[in-house]
Amino acid sequence: MADSADRAVRKLPALRGKTVVNLFFEDSTRTRISFEAAAKRLSADVINFAAKGSSVSKGESLKDTAQTLEAMGADGVVIRHPSSGAAQVLAQSGWIDAGVINAGDGSHQHPSQALLDAFTIRQAKNPGTSRGLGLDGLRVLIVGDILHSRVARSNLWLLHTLGAHVSLAGPPTLLPLGADDWPARLYFDLDAAFDEEQPDVVMFLRVQQERMNDAFFPSTGEYARNWGLGADRYRALPPETLIMHPGPMNRGLEISSLAADSPQSLVLDQVANGVSVRMAILYLTLAGEAA
Ligand code: CP
Repeated sequence: MADSADRAVRKLPALRGKTVVNLFFEDSTRTRISFEAAAKRLSADVINFAAKGSSVSKGESLKDTAQTLEAMGADGVVIRHPSSGAAQVLAQSGWIDAGVINAGDGSHQHPSQALLDAFTIRQAKNPGTSRGLGLDGLRVLIVGDILHSRVARSNLWLLHTLGAHVSLAGPPTLLPLGADDWPARLYFDLDAAFDEEQPDVVMFLRVQQERMNDAFFPSTGEYARNWGLGADRYRALPPETLIMHPGPMNRGLEISSLAADSPQSLVLDQVANGVSVRMAILYLTLAGEAA
């Protein structure tokens, strides 16, 4: 797929006349801006709503907020919310007729991130993509704060569905109950995971300190030593092992600058692909039968 940013004419008319509302109850840089860029490249109008500074602070409910925005003409709502299940409630409640897209709900799911990650892996591992849609046999190791990570959950299920072999590594305090039942091997020792898995791709997760109301690890120094992609671990990686991180990164904690800025890093490819993948999501959700 050619990146729309590479085209001579960036804008396509596919969603002309449609309005997309970015309904964000949690902070975001990549997801919100890339959905905005994607909608604009498809010629949609975009309204950005941030809970901070809105009437949510006066107690307005999700239902009233969504209905208010729909009354102003929203055809599609891209929602990020701190509560797991919020996007599903909005989509299934019947409160609004607009199409609903989940841009991250609590620690539950972040489907557009998983789609852009899978696309980025496929693009990097299969340039020219003669291998179809699958990621058959590719070994992906996801590391860190699995407990709080919607990115890990969405990636696990999508990558597994596409044929990748997924493994998870993290401190026992940051692996959720029930992870034993997931289609992934679990490791409590990162170096053992590297040795045994020989991953093609390693995905380091952000330590989500804003969701931690307890001490999940003794210190940031110990976390970085045991679970971070520091300089020594980075230098020990085979040069073909690809490094991913959904962002935002805690540099020096889960990933060193040496690794994040290395030629093996796909971090900025993930961001760039986010716009194209979100264009596809918006198009498929909103273009309707006329498309
Ligand atoms: N990866 C991701 O969701 O980043 P943002 O929180 O900046 O949107």
